Amino acid sequence: MTTPPRDPAQDYVTWFRNSTPYINAHRGRTFVVMIAGEAIESGSIQHIVHDLALLNTLGVRLVLVHGARPQISARLTAQNIYTRFERHTRITDAAALAAALDAVGNIRLRIEGLFSMGLANSPMYNASLQVVSGNFVIAKPVGVRDGFDYQHTGEVRRVQVDAIRRQLDAGNLVLLSPIGCSPTGELFNMNSEEVASTAAIALKADKIIYLGTAPVLDANQQLVREITPQEAGQLLAKEVVQDADTERQLTAACHAASNGVARAHVLDFREDGALLRELFTRDGHGTMVTNESYETLRNAYIEDVGGILELIAPLEQAGVLVRRSRERLEAEIKRFTIAERDGMVVACAALYPLEDGRSGEVACFAVHPDYRGGGRGAKLLGHLEKRARAQGMRTLYVLSTQAMHWFQEQGFEPIDVDALPGERKSLYNYQRNSKVFAKPL
Ligand SMILES: CC(C)(COP(=O)(O)OP(=O)(O)OC[C@H]1O[C@@H](n2cnc3c(N)ncnc32)[C@H](O)[C@@H]1OP(=O)(O)O)[C@@H](O)C(=O)NCCC(=O)NCCS
Repeated sequence: MTTPPRDPAQDYVTWFRNSTPYINAHRGRTFVVMIAGEAIESGSIQHIVHDLALLNTLGVRLVLVHGARPQISARLTAQNIYTRFERHTRITDAAALAAALDAVGNIRLRIEGLFSMGLANSPMYNASLQVVSGNFVIAKPVGVRDGFDYQHTGEVRRVQVDAIRRQLDAGNLVLLSPIGCSPTGELFNMNSEEVASTAAIALKADKIIYLGTAPVLDANQQLVREITPQEAGQLLAKEVVQDADTERQLTAACHAASNGVARAHVLDFREDGALLRELFTRDGHGTMVTNESYETLRNAYIEDVGGILELIAPLEQAGVLVRRSRERLEAEIKRFTIAERDGMVVACAALYPLEDGRSGEVACFAVHPDYRGGGRGAKLLGHLEKRARAQGMRTLYVLSTQAMHWFQEQGFEPIDVDALPGERKSLYNYQRNSKVFAKPL
């Protein structure tokens, strides 16, 4: 038998459908994105800007931080000026500050120009996006360290959180530069990775994303997909990460992840669509630094209703699950347990106490198709059983039309409809004709 040719239109439909849960998970979240200076000089910058505009359109609150290191170096080289680096930080003398101001002003305006592009044949057509830059970052001098006077090199003293939030509330994109002003009116050249991590921490951002110049590889030259700040600290201490920029970005990502930013990502900008792939596909494309276990099993809150509906709607349409309205789901949300992965609901189940007070019914049990076969169903059931025992239940019931064997493998036994506790029996839907199972706890 020959394989039918792939239908690009169908691929597109499938891709679009699969990205919906991520779109919902990211809406209203605050992301800080740092773009390395190299990316700004590359041919990829237009795509990156379009991807950022798309995120803004989808309701993501965006703070953009740009790097300027190669641009500053190029200006200094052209003038035959040598600057010293200590601990990966440039010592900014008067000439270097002049070069930094020139480079940053130039980059800022170019970025504003790119975001203003509304050409009919570009993805930005009809998108109206305001880029707002200003004195949002207050700097202080690094001062003298180990005998070296860092002169006009500064570090972040304060981020004007309220002013930035007001811009984000208005739907604007906030652009931060690695030049900060001090209350004395001086200007300081700062490390853009640090500006990004400090801003993300101060804004209590949901994510920080570094669009850097290289992937994070382990000792076997394999891409590191997910890592805790502690593990990343070991990689850095063992000097596994060779590239100086990546080292800076990973260090800043760890700092953010250890200080309340749930997820920090380091991506290689040279991969086309790296940002979208990281945010809208199952396992992303770069390295995620997170302190939290990537997936958590927890009781559901009202904010999870949208995610649960997203997960169960196809199963309801296929008749696998009984239909539930949003109102009913909202009223019963406390009965639900969910598995959450990077803000997305990947599994859910509900536990309803039955009138005898000693038993409960497991319902609306679903694992997202992409995540089946990984033991999530079994883990979720184990969690429900624990919840049931804590509520004094002695028996669990489940009604199923298509997962009978699965529940049997989890220790449920088939029983007669008549063996259901009183009221539940009277509510049994004979048309649906589900099989009934019970498991003693
Ligand atoms: C049933 C379901 C919850 C299992 O979730 P899961 O995370 O894949 O479960 P686990 O990883 O713990 O178990 C996977 C095993 O169960 C098997 N399995 C999955 N669905 C099954 C089904 N409907 N019938 C029989 N076995 C099934 C898998 O083949 C796999 O077996 P293997 O390890 O021998 O290959 C999931 O398939 C689902 O959401 N189904 C659609 C919704 C549904 O039917 N819900 C029940 C309504 S009450």
